[in-house]
Amino acid sequence: MSSSTGTTGTTTVIGNIATLVTNDPSLGDGSPLGVVRDAAVVIEGDRVVWTGESSKAPATDNRVDAGGRAVLPGFVDSHSHLVFAGDRTEEFNARMSGRGYTAGGIRTTVAATRAATDEELEANLTRFLSEALRQGTTTFETKSGYGLTVADEARALRIAAAHTDEVTYLGAHVVSPEHADDPAAYVALVTGEMLDACAPHARWIDVFCEKGAFDGDQARAILTAGRAKGLHPRIHANQLSYGPGVQLAVELDAASADHCTHLTDADVDALASGDTVATLLPGAEFSTRAEWPDARRLLDAGVTVALSTDCNPGSSFTSSVPFCVALAVRDMGMTPDEAVWSATAGGAAALRRTDVGRVAPGAYADLTLLDAPSHVHLAYRPGVPLVSGVWRRGVRVV
Ligand code: NIG
Ligand code: FE
Repeated sequence: MSSSTGTTGTTTVIGNIATLVTNDPSLGDGSPLGVVRDAAVVIEGDRVVWTGESSKAPATDNRVDAGGRAVLPGFVDSHSHLVFAGDRTEEFNARMSGRGYTAGGIRTTVAATRAATDEELEANLTRFLSEALRQGTTTFETKSGYGLTVADEARALRIAAAHTDEVTYLGAHVVSPEHADDPAAYVALVTGEMLDACAPHARWIDVFCEKGAFDGDQARAILTAGRAKGLHPRIHANQLSYGPGVQLAVELDAASADHCTHLTDADVDALASGDTVATLLPGAEFSTRAEWPDARRLLDAGVTVALSTDCNPGSSFTSSVPFCVALAVRDMGMTPDEAVWSATAGGAAALRRTDVGRVAPGAYADLTLLDAPSHVHLAYRPGVPLVSGVWRRGVRVV
């Protein structure tokens, strides 16, 4: 068979799927997850070309037996910080003995990252990527933000861009140590020479809008400058305290406001009124012993919610989307269906992508096979390595 997307070549059917999550409401049970029981998926080249009931699957060149297990879209991890060196075990230990989390710890990783070679940074990145892939992540975004000089930010983005299209310039993570006494000069650098060096390597621009990092006016100046250079905004917003980040994100049509832990009713209303996705990062609340974001409140208000790892050495050193799904279900008021949607289609929405996060004709053949009969087991069996197969762009990689 040939597809409408122009792919040609060998076709493979993955059959005997007990539960297929398509995220296409026009398929299967009509829910947002578009669940098809006793299902099959046909792959041709790097794309899905057919999904439906196994008994109706077209003839193909090859066949894979899913063994009565669940298949869902590969996870779309729309928020991570993977270009760094060193770790912050001591800081974590101190937090677990009662110390609080602040933005200042970022500078520890900045020092280690600046001291690392390109090869060390890339080796670290690829290690985390293969860790994430083994846990079902097939699309990931990652950021700079641990260099904070023109050269160190640009090299972080160059290294990241060799591994993903979803690269974010986060020169405005914190004010660099060299500019501690002159934040305005650092904002001028971030919006000037550093932006010029970084924009060619990135799709997105991000700001940590928070006490101890950048205020609303600085964030607006930085994101506006990035937009003028063709970068699209996303914001670390309302993580540690209430603040202007979420409403600024909606005002600037940012693809995503990330964290959203401390929200006023006006913040929730703003998110519900625009196209900005609320990306929740429960690994951060877990690892900083902070209050959980209220996913239920956002969902009930009609906000699009994504779930991501925020994998970084300070506030959330996990690359596991399944772990975040389990936390979101247990502690943030999400149902298993909602959490799985948010970790797949929600992540895709936070990256403004329609070619990932769903298993439907035309989408990339990015699939996760679970050693379980349904996706609900991701929350029901927390901490268990359920991912037993991963296809990325039509190729089985796990
Ligand atoms: O998303 N909030 C800002 N950035 C990261 C933390 C980075 C760090 O502590 O190194 C976050 O949680
Ligand atoms: Fe982050």
